Amino acid sequence: MPDKPKYYLTTPIYYTNGLPHIGHTYSTIVCDTIRRYKRMRGYDAVMTTGTDEHGVNVERSAKKAGVPESEFVAKMAAEWRALWDELGVQGDEFIRTTDLKHAHTVQWLFKQCRDNGFVYPGHYTGQYCIYDNAYVDVMPGENCPDCGRPTETVTEANFYFKLSAFQKPLLDWYAKHPDFIQPEARRNEVLSFVEGGLRDLSITRTSVRWGIPVPGEEPHVFYVWFDALTAYLSAVGGPQYEKTGFFPADLHLVGKEIIRFHAVYWPAFLMAAGLPLPKQVWAHGWLLMDSAKMSKSLGNVVRPRPIVHVLGMDALRYYLLRETVFGQDGNFSYDALVQRYNSDLANGLGNLASRTTAMIEKNNGGKIPKPATFQPQDTALATKAQEAIGEVLEQYDKLGFSLALEEIWSLIAATDKYLTTEHPWSLGDSEADQQRRATILWTTAEVLRIVTALTHPVLPESTTKVWSLLGQPGQADSVALDGLRWGQLVPGTALGKSQALFPRIEKAEAIERMEAMEKEAQNAPSPVTTPAPASAPGASAAASAAAAQAAPEKIGIEDFAKVEMRVGQIKTAERIVGADKLLKLTVDIGTEIRQICAGIAQFYEPEKLIGRKVAVVVNLAPRKLRGVESNGMIVAASVGPEGRPVLAGFPDEDVEIGARLK
Ligand code: MSP
Repeated sequence: MPDKPKYYLTTPIYYTNGLPHIGHTYSTIVCDTIRRYKRMRGYDAVMTTGTDEHGVNVERSAKKAGVPESEFVAKMAAEWRALWDELGVQGDEFIRTTDLKHAHTVQWLFKQCRDNGFVYPGHYTGQYCIYDNAYVDVMPGENCPDCGRPTETVTEANFYFKLSAFQKPLLDWYAKHPDFIQPEARRNEVLSFVEGGLRDLSITRTSVRWGIPVPGEEPHVFYVWFDALTAYLSAVGGPQYEKTGFFPADLHLVGKEIIRFHAVYWPAFLMAAGLPLPKQVWAHGWLLMDSAKMSKSLGNVVRPRPIVHVLGMDALRYYLLRETVFGQDGNFSYDALVQRYNSDLANGLGNLASRTTAMIEKNNGGKIPKPATFQPQDTALATKAQEAIGEVLEQYDKLGFSLALEEIWSLIAATDKYLTTEHPWSLGDSEADQQRRATILWTTAEVLRIVTALTHPVLPESTTKVWSLLGQPGQADSVALDGLRWGQLVPGTALGKSQALFPRIEKAEAIERMEAMEKEAQNAPSPVTTPAPASAPGASAAASAAAAQAAPEKIGIEDFAKVEMRVGQIKTAERIVGADKLLKLTVDIGTEIRQICAGIAQFYEPEKLIGRKVAVVVNLAPRKLRGVESNGMIVAASVGPEGRPVLAGFPDEDVEIGARLK
């Protein structure tokens, strides 16, 4: 079988000085939808996301929280990662700019640019916006023209990147690749910026401490954008990118305010280093709240968790993709969100699925009926469904999510209408009536199957349920969209168990619950706070500090006994595509063979692990790592500042497989 074509897409990496709101969520969900779609079109699609963890903002936030920067960013990155998991985001690699492999890639890229003559030392004085991490063209005392926050005068020694040398190469590139920047309005904006002339860019800082060091040039650290953009390379192999075959990206998806960094600086850095350029940079619009871009400082943010809690993750995904025309700004409102949920999901897709399957359950013993003679109204619906397949795929290809969903929902509406006019529920028991009902129900179920496959990239959770409700083979994500056609629903297929999809909800009550949770989240302490030391009234500050430093709480033997550790033997070990830290192992633990993922891929060759005896925590709840089920944990020491894993083992004795560690 020929290899699947590779497709690499990226979200921006998110700043860790704040927590995600639905604006950030939008970027990530769009990317996740594209990844799912591309996989269903037969691509080996890989998506990366991550966190942008360096810079003055983090230095300041960590100081305010009273913790070292490394601890601060680790906790914040964990929050981001956890949220994406809750939203069903299937990222293949979560890159942190504090990862060692990332630092090496940034240093390597700098060396390439420098060796090729595009870097030189200098000095710079200018107004700096620490929020946007950029020098801005204003006078001292003036605010940042982009975000309106105060700027600071910064003078420092630094290294310059010869951006000016790339004006012509960039313009030539844009001319040769007219689709490189999307949409058109952003392309024009970038073109006029570059045509206006490019000034060299300072790419290191000496006024900042929390950053990746420039080797041999300390105290220089890399400018956050040189650092951050390089994450797109370090996520897929870094200097060895040719081995993974994913670089350069097919698509960098970004918000419109960071288009310049992606469409000017990034390609210039790559050209300077002699590396290939991405195929496309797509800038989406902003999610607005009360007509302003959602932002922490404006206090108009809406968080994803309350929405997911009340309406489910698919409701948020659907709303974001349906309500906003991709590329333009969109306004968020709780009212419109619940409206969409009730009308499109509960009354639309949910209702179609439950009434169709309930009728098949009642009249056909829970098996897809065999259609008899098709009448013109059946064929008309079939034609509409077949045409919808083509149009929806075309829209998805253009990232026209809202139009794709509109098309699918117009098919759902046509099917509702078809059911109303054909009213299968009022047909009787005569042979002719039974045959007519079977034809109508088969036709309706066939529409539902097609709708389910087409909506899966947007609604992964609920369509997975509908797919099994329809008794379809495999999972909804395994459908090859290229082969999706009218008429493939096999009569006689037994329906699966019925499941709740989108229970209707009273609008006022839903909004009240979401707003209350949002308020609670706003008042909650940051995930990174120093624990208040337990101190007696009147105790000195020094004593309180000492208490805070006290040894960690001791546990009793009964707590330790809860952890069941056994000797296991590794039977197979393989790498996981797109997750370069993980190995997928099968391990014999005496009573059974378990599949376990271990984050040791960068330090252990899979072949050399076969037959090795290891310590396994066997009573850990199963979980998914990068989408792969892991049922247990291999114990390893964490060595050195980078936490290199060293497997615990039994070199002196031939221990029995399954023996308990006590
Ligand atoms: N760290 C940089 C990106 C570096 S990429 C090499 C950054 N981070 S960010 O956290 O501020 O923004 C990340 C993404 O979230 C951007 O694409 C931005 O446009 C998006 N959004 C943040 N607020 C948004 C809205 N209100 N609406 C839509 N997207 C928005 O920039």
